[in-house]
Amino acid sequence: MNSRKNKNNNPNDATVQILGRAHGLDVSFYEESFLRKVIDKRRVAAGIRTVDDYNVVLAENRSEAEKFCDSLRIIYSEFFRNPLSFALLEQLILPGLIKAKRAAGQGGIRIWSAGCASGQEPWSVAILLNELLRKGHELVPYRIFATDLSEPDLEKARAGVYSADELKNVRLRHLTDSFTRTGECWTLLPGIRERVQFSQYDLLDADTVCPPSSIYGGFDLVLCSNVLLYYNPEAQLRILDKLCAGLAGGGWLITGESERQIVERAGGFRNVFPSIPVFQQRKFIVNAAGKKR
Ligand SMILES: C[S@@+](CC[C@H](N)C(=O)[O-])C[C@H]1O[C@@H](n2cnc3c(N)ncnc32)[C@H](O)[C@@H]1O
Repeated sequence: MNSRKNKNNNPNDATVQILGRAHGLDVSFYEESFLRKVIDKRRVAAGIRTVDDYNVVLAENRSEAEKFCDSLRIIYSEFFRNPLSFALLEQLILPGLIKAKRAAGQGGIRIWSAGCASGQEPWSVAILLNELLRKGHELVPYRIFATDLSEPDLEKARAGVYSADELKNVRLRHLTDSFTRTGECWTLLPGIRERVQFSQYDLLDADTVCPPSSIYGGFDLVLCSNVLLYYNPEAQLRILDKLCAGLAGGGWLITGESERQIVERAGGFRNVFPSIPVFQQRKFIVNAAGKKR
């Protein structure tokens, strides 16, 4: 097939080039149909009939270019978002990690929530781990490194304060054990808050293999849910390589439900439970460049 013809056929190309040329904004790594939807959404919001006309406005108007980039950032999240993944975490993965660390007699559990939005995912894991450790009278230490691109969302995450509506998936016993109520809002208790460290980190950063806040990777578990699906296959692979490199041998990866096939296609991970997006790193996988990862 003629690759040049293909390139000309991509209806997003003109918009991508204009954002790069006129504003220095690189959106080339987003997934094609997602990018298309955002172009249409912004075009309609700006009251413009054709993409060509919208591209002219985009080239001349910095504020519209910024609005466009804001629309590419999907930050929706929920506590205990994928119930099946969280059931596996609660019943199998976290108890297994506690047991393994206790047997080793040293080192704590290390977890990375990559693309944590405003904290719902890492706090959900911390709530489960606290409960399991309390129930079993275990003294295994753990640390959750939670990262995102967006500083305003990280600020909300650090505050650990949520409305009743945001906590609709949280079980009553977790609400009473892990939060304190202040008026209409609920705040995570200090015993949980001290276990999670939030920092800004770009998963497409080419200079680092894991968040500098974690010092070295060696994660027993990485959660990266509802992030990969917004990126094109090349960027997906770059992110997956990073997650794979950050994991300790045989560590666990959890993605969003609709990202299962992306991980399966990339290789490097074994889908342990075929209908749930929970994977285990294959030890010493050799990638296309011949490097162990
Ligand atoms: C749809 S939210 C998902 C939040 C959470 N993981 C969940 O499943 O509920 C996607 C998050 O990924 C973050 N994100 C997207 N691209 C990223 C990147 N390159 N590096 C770090 N975070 C990124 C966004 O800022 C957003 O907060």
